[in-house]
Amino acid sequence: MDGSIKVQGAKNSALPILAATVAVGKPCVIHNCPRLSDIDATVDILVSLGCEVKRNSNTVYVDSSNLDSDSISDALMREMRSSVIFMGALLSRTGEAELTAPGGCDIGIRPIDLHLMAMKKLGIDVTEEYGRIRCRRKGRIKGAKITLSFPSVGATENIILASVRAAGVTTIINAAREPEISDLAKFLNSCGAKISGAGESTIVIEGVDRLYSTQFYIIPDRIAACTYMAGAAVTGGTVVLDDIVPAHLMPVIPCFEQSGCKIQIGSGKLKITAPERLKSMQTIRTMPYPGFPTDCQAIVTAMASVADGTTVIAENIFESRMRHTVELNRMGASITVHDKVAIINGVEFLQGAAVSSHDLRAGAALVIAGLCAHGETTVDNVNYIDRGYEALEDRLRQIGADIKRV
Ligand code: UD1
Repeated sequence: MDGSIKVQGAKNSALPILAATVAVGKPCVIHNCPRLSDIDATVDILVSLGCEVKRNSNTVYVDSSNLDSDSISDALMREMRSSVIFMGALLSRTGEAELTAPGGCDIGIRPIDLHLMAMKKLGIDVTEEYGRIRCRRKGRIKGAKITLSFPSVGATENIILASVRAAGVTTIINAAREPEISDLAKFLNSCGAKISGAGESTIVIEGVDRLYSTQFYIIPDRIAACTYMAGAAVTGGTVVLDDIVPAHLMPVIPCFEQSGCKIQIGSGKLKITAPERLKSMQTIRTMPYPGFPTDCQAIVTAMASVADGTTVIAENIFESRMRHTVELNRMGASITVHDKVAIINGVEFLQGAAVSSHDLRAGAALVIAGLCAHGETTVDNVNYIDRGYEALEDRLRQIGADIKRV
């Protein structure tokens, strides 16, 4: 594959920022918002809460001034995991929130105990009945010191949102450091919030009385960028990624270099030149940022499947995120999984087959495998891919892939 790709805006940044418009209570214009089914689901929630939402290509206008509900239906909550972020946004705005345990991709049990513990620390009354979670503040939300036992991305976002308009100061210890956390803080600060330390382990939120309108540009999607890099890698291609933040890709660049790819970084750009045959990579362990991202695990497993040698990949974030290995093996890969560790013995080539995606990134990994497989590959359940990739097939076709949606 050869050519250049403009990388979409970050899904995991756009979702909490759209939810955050509820806390803002004034019109907000969000640019570089990717066109994804998860964004559609978020817009449905915003509309159900009484927000006015307009979309024009990749720009979304949200006015939450006439919010008239603090409750999200079970059907909307089941659409995706990140709907839980509305908890903090609604509490901040109305002092109340009612929702159910969120849905999302099938990658293991995904509890929200850290979110609920944090809300209680902020003085919020949390009750659970028949699967419905009801949160109500007693008076104004009070800033608190909250220590997370694990740097959960969603819990960190919910704390930021719930405390942005609280009385006093909130400190998050062991906060998640993902670039999407920094983007959320940057968005809220552009509305007048006082958040410092985002991107580090300690975040300090000084509550403000009110927030203001803003226009904001979402950061590029580092996981989509890694996916296109893997596409170039498995096909021996040369691809330039436009509109990226190279620093956000530092956790994944070493494994591409170990596999023999040449990486050249420019301002907002990255060029990957792949060798004819990839080499195996050193052991990869998924970790919270700035460690290797769990969302790139399946994608790099597809690369390792055709590399010369053995690669070991350990999944440390989610319980059950190895199901793509069964599908890759159907294509002739040689992968054995022991609990959360995959041992991948690279084969010379994969064979096209009918395979099925079970989650968003697994779906992308199968497409990557299909790009280099001999013959035709059919990937089923593309609705998972549509949750997180904007026009994946069009972008891949643009750089020479023979791919179509049927
Ligand atoms: C976010 C990302 C997702 C990414 C993940 C990890 C969004 C919309 N999604 O998901 O793409 O894979 O970060 O980088 O941004 N946990 C608990 N209790 C909690 C919360 C989390 O035990 O209350 C556990 C989870 O089960 C999981 C781990 O912590 O094992 C990481 O979860 P978390 O960081 O919260 O991920 P999400 O915010 O759900």
